[in-house]
Amino acid sequence: MPISMALGKPLIGAVLARLSARGLARRVVDMGPGAGTYADLFRALTPEAAWCAVEAWGPYVAKYGLRGKYDEIIIADIRYLDFIKLGPSDIALFGDILEHMSVAEACDVLAHAAMKSRFMVLSIPIGHWPQDEIEGNPFEKHVEDNLSHAEIQDIVPNLCGGQAMINNQGQGLGVYFSANDLADRNILTSIVAEAEELIASTASDDLNVAAVDFLDPLATAAFRDRIAASVMI
Ligand SMILES: C[S@@+](CC[C@H](N)C(=O)[O-])C[C@H]1O[C@@H](n2cnc3c(N)ncnc32)[C@H](O)[C@@H]1O
Repeated sequence: MPISMALGKPLIGAVLARLSARGLARRVVDMGPGAGTYADLFRALTPEAAWCAVEAWGPYVAKYGLRGKYDEIIIADIRYLDFIKLGPSDIALFGDILEHMSVAEACDVLAHAAMKSRFMVLSIPIGHWPQDEIEGNPFEKHVEDNLSHAEIQDIVPNLCGGQAMINNQGQGLGVYFSANDLADRNILTSIVAEAEELIASTASDDLNVAAVDFLDPLATAAFRDRIAASVMI
């Protein structure tokens, strides 16, 4: 699906809002935007940021109106992307994309991305999540469909925090944060801890839902507003 679960998105929103408040979100690159849910949910939290999307499947640009959601769109497979030409960014988002390649490829992508982006935010399914191509898009296939939280923590370089949200069957999602530079790691570690505390203290069922229909603009806007109301500084 060109969308993902709602799980973890309030935490990501809280972190992005805090990076933005410190002037650390001027360029955001969304790797594998799919239907553009991250732009829909989080652009309002990063008002100074230019948002760039890198999507492998060209037909999604028109189908999901990505030109109206992003300032810049690059059609490319991130495994072969020239990160030098992509240019520097403050934040690289990897929302449910790394399971669409082998672990070795994901490590290679993250190593290159970390050289050009100060902060990285990742969301990755945990447990058994098989998926084939969708709508003729071969990039939707899950190449890695049974990753554990421990395995993902080994893949993400310079981890500054993360959270696994897993059900009784061991299925769920992990959200992870990383920064290349030591000073940035200290900043991000404290921001993530503060954001985790905030989300944990927000006992709203509306916010802590597992799924939202992100293909429905009204449902997406309602969730965006709930996140903004809870995580704004
Ligand atoms: C599950 S969707 C996630 C969409 C969105 N990030 C979200 O979380 O709602 C995965 C997206 O990544 C794209 N994708 C998969 N592999 C890719 C690659 N190697 N390079 C660029 N995009 C890729 C797919 O085409 C699809 O749009």
